[in-house]
Amino acid sequence: MTQNEFIQLLSDNFKIIPEKKLRTKLYLAIKKTLTDVSLPQAFKCPSTRFLSETLGISRDTVEKTYAQFEQEGIFYRIKGKGSFIKTQPSALQVDAQHQLIATRHQIEYDLPANTEKLEALFFDQNLNFFADGMPEIRNFPFKKWYETEKFALSQYGLSIFLKDNGAGDALLRHEIAQFINLNRHTQVNAEQVLIVNSTQQGLYLCAQVLFNRGDHIVLENPYYSNAYHLFDLAGLEQHCVNLDDQGLDLQQAAHISNIKALYLTPASQYPSGIQMSLARKQQLIEFAEQRNSYIIEDDYDALMLHKENNPAILGLDHYQRTIYLGSFSKYLLPSLRMSYIILPMALIEPFKRYRNYIDGCAPSQYFQVILANFMQRGYYAEYLVQMQQLYAQRYQTFMHCFELYLADYCYLKEHQPTMQIACYFKADIPISLEKFLVQAAEVREIYITRLSQFYAQDPEYGFVLGFSSLNQTEIKACMLLLRQLIDNELARLPI
Ligand SMILES: Cc1ncc(COP(=O)(O)O)c(C=O)c1O
Repeated sequence: MTQNEFIQLLSDNFKIIPEKKLRTKLYLAIKKTLTDVSLPQAFKCPSTRFLSETLGISRDTVEKTYAQFEQEGIFYRIKGKGSFIKTQPSALQVDAQHQLIATRHQIEYDLPANTEKLEALFFDQNLNFFADGMPEIRNFPFKKWYETEKFALSQYGLSIFLKDNGAGDALLRHEIAQFINLNRHTQVNAEQVLIVNSTQQGLYLCAQVLFNRGDHIVLENPYYSNAYHLFDLAGLEQHCVNLDDQGLDLQQAAHISNIKALYLTPASQYPSGIQMSLARKQQLIEFAEQRNSYIIEDDYDALMLHKENNPAILGLDHYQRTIYLGSFSKYLLPSLRMSYIILPMALIEPFKRYRNYIDGCAPSQYFQVILANFMQRGYYAEYLVQMQQLYAQRYQTFMHCFELYLADYCYLKEHQPTMQIACYFKADIPISLEKFLVQAAEVREIYITRLSQFYAQDPEYGFVLGFSSLNQTEIKACMLLLRQLIDNELARLPI
């Protein structure tokens, strides 16, 4: 490559880099050019004067950018001769080399059998088609978050960059305890709150700290599949108990012995949306007390429901048998990876120790502090109310469109409207439609959440549709698309 060709490519890259600050723009343009091409040994850079004139930027900017590359060891300077680029293989060359090495060394990995089970753990989701339980992120109050971040950085100084080996940031634990007490009819204190990365991590900790392999656990049927597969991997003996219109049918659980814990989503059962009645919650607490069992309460979307008539089991349980899991994934941002477990005091220490054992420490102190201040300023509470209102409107739209486009094929059961809805095939719809529909949709890169995958026995067929991340126009468009897919597949199915 000649120097002129290099400059031409660099100018082109400079034009397309979407960066306002000129020095960063030039830095990124040079970096991109270096990865795009393969340069001969000791390639001489254009002089700073020439480059500044070509790109129409100050010579000082070019000098400083060259100095930065020098510091990184990518450029070197020879007095009186100019700056040179240390020869480095281009990205394309590196890829080719890697491929060559990779094909020569095809190692057969002998993975433990358990690893295969991991495949079932998560399923693909798409953002633009009824993503199951995905929150709206477009309305997130970025300005308020950014303002809180700036405040936290100025107030906390260096401590924000340190690892947190404790149960979590004190202010965050305090804010969570206060918020849950206010909204879920509980009376917990901040010392009972342990900060973790996710409900999934919380469930993993439960599996490791509370159980031995082979211990018995009761789940709901249908169940939250991420919990089911995780407990399966931990070697627990799972008993999935059917629901009635009040929630988990305790009579069916009566014959199961040595129940170590019951894992439930009582506020709005996942995926059916059935709300556990108050009477059933009280019976459940007595059931657990008589059998010396824990209750693992996954309260994943309860804050989206109305506060009245749906208290958390945690607040009703005077025996302190309840382990409560809450997550910011559905309320704020799934990428925040911030959740909490509210534990009986005696379990805080072992849970914390195990969390540190697998993760090294609490989740990012940086984000904990920002979130704590975001909550303290009232931004979290304010945002949740906005989201509640938004989801209520979207629910209305969903129901309207359901009647228009899906009601010929599906029906809904009594449910709590939160963020997703289970739709059941009507009796005359062949159950194979579920499988064929998912396959046909996948070809178009649309992922439909199959309902039957959540059942251990007595499966029901249909799908779980998340409406919370879609605006009204999008809900309508997705419903139309789903209707078309169903019509196509039904026409192809043998009668
Ligand atoms: C039943 C249930 N629990 C918990 C969660 C939140 O999980 P996490 O905190 O691991 O993202 C979800 C999210 O979809 C869920 O459906």
